[in-house]
Amino acid sequence: MDRKSQPVLVTGASSGIGRATAERLASSGHPVFAGARREEDLGAFGHLPNVVPLKLDVTRNEDAERAVAKIREHGRGLFGLVNCAGLGNAGPIAEMTVEDLHDVMDVNLDGAHRMVHSVFPLLRAARGRVVNISSIGGFLVEPMMGPYNISKHAVEGYSDVLREELAPLGIRVVTVSPGSFRTNIFENGLRRFGGTIRTRWVESDSVYREQVLQLLRYLEQPGVRSRAQYPPPTAVAAAIEEALDADAPRNRYLVATSEEADLVFDRIFLLVHELNDSRADPLTPEALVERLTKARPRA
Ligand SMILES: NC(=O)c1ccc[n+]([C@@H]2O[C@H](COP(=O)([O-])OP(=O)(O)OC[C@H]3O[C@@H](n4cnc5c(N)ncnc54)[C@H](OP(=O)(O)O)[C@@H]3O)[C@@H](O)[C@H]2O)c1
Repeated sequence: MDRKSQPVLVTGASSGIGRATAERLASSGHPVFAGARREEDLGAFGHLPNVVPLKLDVTRNEDAERAVAKIREHGRGLFGLVNCAGLGNAGPIAEMTVEDLHDVMDVNLDGAHRMVHSVFPLLRAARGRVVNISSIGGFLVEPMMGPYNISKHAVEGYSDVLREELAPLGIRVVTVSPGSFRTNIFENGLRRFGGTIRTRWVESDSVYREQVLQLLRYLEQPGVRSRAQYPPPTAVAAAIEEALDADAPRNRYLVATSEEADLVFDRIFLLVHELNDSRADPLTPEALVERLTKARPRA
């Protein structure tokens, strides 16, 4: 099968990784359904050949249903779903409300699942692929970034379950976990939640006042909000393309610098140590290395 000519739906295509991915896939031959929430963003896809704009807020069932109807109207089915829509909030988790947590989970986890559930019959017919955008934050934890880290850990677990269950149907599930890239993620998060972060934790008697103030000061430094110091998300879009097009894509793509990859590995090794220490029969370092050498992803 020529996968390059197969249709793909990209959510969160108005900016950042989603936008770069939609453009890359369309220029390489994929018919792309590009999901965005705002009319002006949908209009901006007008000049791109191979792109069909879809009004799609991933928190809304009716949007998902309408998107599926439009994809069906086009009559070519759907091979790939790329869940790029995402956002982050900041603050101390113990002082956040259930609603604060839900605002982020609603997009990053539930939104991804809403889309998987909606297009499942189409993916099944095509023996297609799901690419979920996770993050190095799906392995790491960073104080004051709780909702984001929690949601991305959940995306990792969600994708692992989905991979097991969809493999017998011939549908592959891949996670792409980027490190830091230049996108609108800080600007969008601050636009949505920035005002309340200051009033709730700085202009208050929160025990986390100093930590939140430090975070806000960091975000006010030149170039931080715009993430100017990071590269554009070209490498992430390339990994997503490989996940969709390769004969044997990996289960996971960590698209990160060596320093970021080291942080992820250190965290995983720490977990191994903590769990090993609590085993009735802790493994020796040699036995751990032997098991690491034997462990290989299933083809
Ligand atoms: N940038 C990084 O360094 C980095 C690192 C690791 C992981 N990621 C992940 O990459 C993904 C894309 O983020 P990005 O960095 O490209 O940031 P971005 O530029 O802010 O893009 C996020 C996209 O998600 C969309 N979105 C937010 N809420 C939505 C909703 N309810 N329904 C539909 N779309 C929604 C945004 O649309 P609007 O324009 O309408 O708000 C935007 O198109 C996210 O999952 C993020 O967690 C990014």
